[in-house]
Amino acid sequence: MRILAPLILFIFMLTAPRAGSSAERVRLDLSREAVGRGKEVYLSQCALCHGLKYYRDAEHREGIKPQMETEAMKASLGAEAPDLSLMAISRGKGTEGAEYIYRLLTSYSVGEDGRMMNAAFAEETQTEGAIAMPPPIPLDDPELKKKANDAAAFLLEAAEPAKERSSVGAKVIVYMAVLTALLYIINRLTWMDVKKRSPWK
Ligand code: HEC
Repeated sequence: MRILAPLILFIFMLTAPRAGSSAERVRLDLSREAVGRGKEVYLSQCALCHGLKYYRDAEHREGIKPQMETEAMKASLGAEAPDLSLMAISRGKGTEGAEYIYRLLTSYSVGEDGRMMNAAFAEETQTEGAIAMPPPIPLDDPELKKKANDAAAFLLEAAEPAKERSSVGAKVIVYMAVLTALLYIINRLTWMDVKKRSPWK
C-alpha cells in the first residue's frame, strides 16, 4: 500500500485536464464585456468590407451587409472579403478560430517588395502570406491587442452564440474533488501504518 498510494497519485496527476496542447495558443478574454466591445470594433473597423449575414440582434434583424459593394472591393483590393458569420468556427474547433482571428489581426508585416504579409494567414493558407486585407486595426494603435482580442471574442460569439465555454472548468472541479478524496484516503492509510508501528502506543 505504501508504494501503491503515491503511484496512484502520480498516475492521476498525469491525467490532469489541460485546456489545449497546441504550441501557439493565445489566451483570449472571451468575457461578455470583451464581446460587447468587439461588436463596436467590428462595426467600426470590419463592417466596411465584411458582412455578418447570419448575425441577429435588436438592430440587425436580417444580418449585416458589408458597406462596400463587392465589385468596388474587388477592384480596389483585388479580392472579396468573406462573410464573417461562421469564420470563427471554420478556422478551428473550440476557441482556435478566435485565436486565429486574433493572430491574423496582430501578425502583419511588410514584405521585401512592399506587399502586405501576414504570418497567421501564411500558416492558414499554406502560402508565403501575401494578403489582400489591409491591416484593419492600425498596427501602431496602442490598443491593437485589446481590439483584436475583442473582435475575435465577438466573432466567436457571433458564430457560436452563448455556448457554455466552461467545459475545462467543470473537468477541473471534478478532478480536484477526486484528488481531495484520494489525498484523504492516502493520508488515513499512511497514519494508520505509523500509528500501528509506533512503539509508544
Ligand atoms: C478594407 C476591407 C477590409 C476590412 C476593413 C477588413 N477586412 Fe478582413 N478581409 C478583407 C479581404 C479582401 C479579405 C480576403 C483576404 C485574402 O484572401 O487575401 C479578408 C479576409 C479576412 C479574414 C479571412 C482570412 C482567412 O483565413 O481566409 C478574416 C478572419 C478577416 N478578414 C477578419 C477581419 C476583421 C476581424 C476585420 C476588422 C477588425 C476585418 N477583417 C476588416 C478585407 C477587409
